[in-house]
Amino acid sequence: MATLAPSTRNGRRLAFVEQPQQLSDTFNRAITYMRISVTDRCNLRCVYCMPEEGMPWLERQHVLTYEEIAHIIRAAAELGVRRLRITGGEPLIRRDLPRLVAMLRAIPDIEDLALSTNGLLLPEQAEALKDAGLTRVNVSLDTLRPERFRDIARRDGLDKVLAALEAAERYGFHPIKINCVVMRGKNDDELADLARLTIERPWHMRFIEIMPLEGSVEDQTAWYMPADEILDRVRSIAALEPTEGPTGNGPARYYRFPSGKGTVGVISPLSHNYCDRCNRVRLTADGQLRLCLFGDNQIDLRTPLRGGATIEDLQRIFRRAMRIKPERHHLQPGQTSAALIALSQTGG
Ligand code: 5AD
Ligand code: SF4
Repeated sequence: MATLAPSTRNGRRLAFVEQPQQLSDTFNRAITYMRISVTDRCNLRCVYCMPEEGMPWLERQHVLTYEEIAHIIRAAAELGVRRLRITGGEPLIRRDLPRLVAMLRAIPDIEDLALSTNGLLLPEQAEALKDAGLTRVNVSLDTLRPERFRDIARRDGLDKVLAALEAAERYGFHPIKINCVVMRGKNDDELADLARLTIERPWHMRFIEIMPLEGSVEDQTAWYMPADEILDRVRSIAALEPTEGPTGNGPARYYRFPSGKGTVGVISPLSHNYCDRCNRVRLTADGQLRLCLFGDNQIDLRTPLRGGATIEDLQRIFRRAMRIKPERHHLQPGQTSAALIALSQTGG
């Protein structure tokens, strides 16, 4: 349903134009942010994300084309979505991603376009992505030790990730955020070293509480370390002061060392639930609109899209989807989530 809203230009009221009603859910949360997964595949096999083998990959014909994604985002932008993040799997393994970046950048009202990547292919693609209009990047970095990287990601690549951070800086992506999934007994002895990077570099190092994956070889609940303990480890270097953090109003809480160029953040989906501030939905690579990171409530956009849905048709579906966005997730520390397998495929 469209509402009438006054339109002004140069402070002068011109006329009434039709504006579709903005998206908000049944808990009055405005939806302004959308994550877009462009592939479920990845060139790494991080232990907290996917098994070494046996992933049920999507059939290629089910994966949305760039044109289909852009059509959906045009509909969403008219409903108030302003910020986008491209994710995977690993988004940079999808062919010609800069083409999608340029298409999304051209959509009116999209203010911010970010990319989450494991970094392996960023050094060779950074320039084309920047030219296409990408504004910022998040790079995953769980360790600074090459052999440990192989243990966690089940592939080599630390040198590429470090080169990716340099490339991100060189090509002017801003802000540069780093994601580190903290695992007790695996990388918790490196938290101080990782945090120390933010003293010299303008990077935003974000430590993420692991969401233990169900049915993996090891019991991942033993790896869980709550954000407050993570912060205590980091404080062992020097005092931390709370700070605003970089732009991009995500769920992290930020701190800085007094002399630091960057910041240290913690993301705590389990110990400090931030669902009340949730402003997001996610589009999976096969065209499902997911209403929450956890759980499986989703609505199919691909079938209507391929049946010829117009922008208005899609907007009706978006509105219907708002009714099934849950108030919060109920995952607790010590629990595993079967939804995590799906999470890895829809971009964290
Ligand atoms: N727990 C926490 N974060 C995860 N991610 C993927 N799997 C998990 C998990 N089990 C996030 C990380 C990673 C990004 C791709 O997704 O931030 O860097
Ligand atoms: Fe790939 Fe990222 Fe999952 Fe690691 S966490 S396997 S890099 S999608």
